[in-house]
Amino acid sequence: MNIVLFGAPGAGKGTQSSLLVEKAGMFQISTGDLFRTAIKNKTALGIEAQKFMDKGALVPDSIVIDMVDEVLSNIGNKNFILDGFPRTVAQAEALGKMLSLRNMEIGKAIFLEVPREELLVRLTGRRVCKSCGAVYHIQSKPTNVDAVCDLCGSEVVQRNDDKKDVIATRLKTYEDNTLPLRSYYKGLGRYVEIDGNQSSESVFDILKSVI
Ligand code: AP5
Ligand code: MG
Ligand code: ZN
Repeated sequence: MNIVLFGAPGAGKGTQSSLLVEKAGMFQISTGDLFRTAIKNKTALGIEAQKFMDKGALVPDSIVIDMVDEVLSNIGNKNFILDGFPRTVAQAEALGKMLSLRNMEIGKAIFLEVPREELLVRLTGRRVCKSCGAVYHIQSKPTNVDAVCDLCGSEVVQRNDDKKDVIATRLKTYEDNTLPLRSYYKGLGRYVEIDGNQSSESVFDILKSVI
């Protein structure tokens, strides 16, 4: 089954997607990760996207939709997880069209519910590997050696948009643009809600049972 995983910044979309890739062989499409790779490689897409990401704003729909369209064309027949896309109703409508042209569909749109205080703890404490992108947390998932990635030995840093003032904008952007997706997917009969405010392992167990 193909799924959309959505929720606030810090809800655990990336963490759960990585588990689904590792343990269920699914294919992760993370628009945030794709933009961060483009920024690292200094491509035209990256330079454009960074202007919005550094402020905590959304990259314009047309840019994101074209990028996802290209990924969907190269995905083969693996089941996929959309992590961080769609995050506007316009993106969700475009996704529906892109999939139906390919005889594909979303089986479930799964919302990870996490209270704001917990989101702030997760976002301010998150650290990511500069090289392989592995995700850590200074309290709940620290690296073995301070600021060094367990997996590849590179430096582990804070994401640019995990600074306090940008976090506030991201949360507002999320409430205004992405929360309406709940009613959108309820209307399509595809909506599932999971309590994301428990250990990653417990969330993953529920996620597996839903899929
Ligand atoms: P994106 O990278 O998607 O950021 P986001 O949506 O803000 O979500 P995050 O990646 O911050 O959180 P997450 O839910 O993946 O949490 P994680 O698992 O890492 O997008 C970045 C930017 O790109 C956007 O602001 C926008 O500008 C642009 N963009 C991307 N997609 C776009 C689109 N479709 N349209 C327009 N613009 C777009 O976990 C967070 C932390 O919590 C980690 O430290 C983790 O270890 C910890 N943690 C995770 N789960 C648990 C748990 N169960 N218990 C305790 N700690 C946990
Ligand atoms: Mg993420
Ligand atoms: Zn690494």
